[in-house]
Amino acid sequence: MMKRFAAGTVLLAMLAVWPGTAVFGGETVVFENVDEIAVNEGPTLTVGYVKIGAESDWRMACNKSLADTFTIDNGYFLLTSDAQQKQDRQVKAVREFISQEVDYILLDPITESGWAASLEEAREAGIPVIVFDREVDVDDPEAYTAWLGSDFYTEGARASAWLEAYLEESGYEGEVGIVHIQGTTDSSAQIGRTRGLDEALEKHPQWELLGRADADFTTAKGKEVMVEMLEEFGGRINVVYCENDNEAYGAIEAIEEAGFSAGTDLEKGDILVLSFDAANNGLMLTMEKKIAVNTECAPCYGPLLTQMIMALERGEELPKRQYVYEQQFSALGKPDSVTVSGRTWPVAPVSEELISARPY
Ligand code: AHR
Repeated sequence: MMKRFAAGTVLLAMLAVWPGTAVFGGETVVFENVDEIAVNEGPTLTVGYVKIGAESDWRMACNKSLADTFTIDNGYFLLTSDAQQKQDRQVKAVREFISQEVDYILLDPITESGWAASLEEAREAGIPVIVFDREVDVDDPEAYTAWLGSDFYTEGARASAWLEAYLEESGYEGEVGIVHIQGTTDSSAQIGRTRGLDEALEKHPQWELLGRADADFTTAKGKEVMVEMLEEFGGRINVVYCENDNEAYGAIEAIEEAGFSAGTDLEKGDILVLSFDAANNGLMLTMEKKIAVNTECAPCYGPLLTQMIMALERGEELPKRQYVYEQQFSALGKPDSVTVSGRTWPVAPVSEELISARPY
C-alpha cells in the first residue's frame, strides 16, 4: 500500500531515518549508516528484487548484499528475478511481482528508457517501487517511490579530472590518444560516465578520442573491444577509459597480450588504464599501478534499502533522490585530490589492508 504523510514531517522523518546525510548541490548524499540493517519486527514483508544479471564483480557484490540482508531472520522474504542483462525480461519481472502482490519492488534498471508502462501498473496496484543503483527516465515523477544510487556523472568527471591533474603533474605535453570502452548503452552508469569524459574532451583539444564501443560491462567484451582498438590504433593509444573494472581486466589482458604495458609512464609508451567500481580485483590492479585510478561505485545497497522500506512502513516519506558517497583510489600518490564542480574530493592511496577490509 502507498504510504503518504504530511509535508511538515518530511524533514523530521529524514533526520530520524537518515542522520548520516548531507545536501550537496541540492541532492541528498548518504554517507553514514550504510551498513545498518533495519530489521522488520512486524509481519514478514515480501520484496521482489528485479536484478540485472551477473555481468561484473560489482553486480555479484550487489546481489550478495541484498541476499544477505533481506533474510527471513531480518523479517523479509526476498523474491528475485535475473534478467541476464535484458531489459524486456526486467519489465516482465515487474509484472510478475505485481501479480504475486509483493509488498515492495526493488528495481535496478538495466537501461533508463522503457519503464513508463510497467511502473504505472505497479503504482495502480499500490506497490511501492524503490529504484536503486541506476535510474529510470520517466516523465511522471510519481512513477516510482524513491531512488538511491550513484552519481555516475560525477564519477566520470572525477576520473577525467584525475587524468587532467595527472598529465599536468607528470609534465606530459604530447597528444593524448584515448580509447573509450563503454558500459551497456543507455544504462545510467554509461550515460553519466560518458558525459564526464565528453565534457573533459571538449575542454582539452590535445585529447583525441580514437574510438569508443559498448562492452556491456563484461571482461570478455572489454577484451574483445580492446583487441580491436589495439589492431586499429596500436601505439597511438595513451589512455583507456573503461567504464567498469571487468572491462579493465579484459583491456589489460589485451594490452599485455599485444606486447604493450598497462602502466603510468606515458613517455615510455605505457597505456594508462582508468576504471570504475573499486572491486577487490580492481583495487589489486590499482595497487600494482596497472589501473592508474579507480573511481568507486558502491554496491552494498541491501542495508540502506531496508532502512528505506522500514521508513515507508512507519508512514514516512523518503527523499526522492539520494546518492551514496563514493571514493576514488590510486597508488600514484599524485594528484592527491581532484576538484569537480567546485567540490574537492580526496584521492585515497591503496594498500593490502584497505583492500582486505573492504567487503567487495
Ligand atoms: O550500475 C553499476 C555498474 O554496473 C557498475 O559499474 C558495473 O560494474 C555494473 O555492471
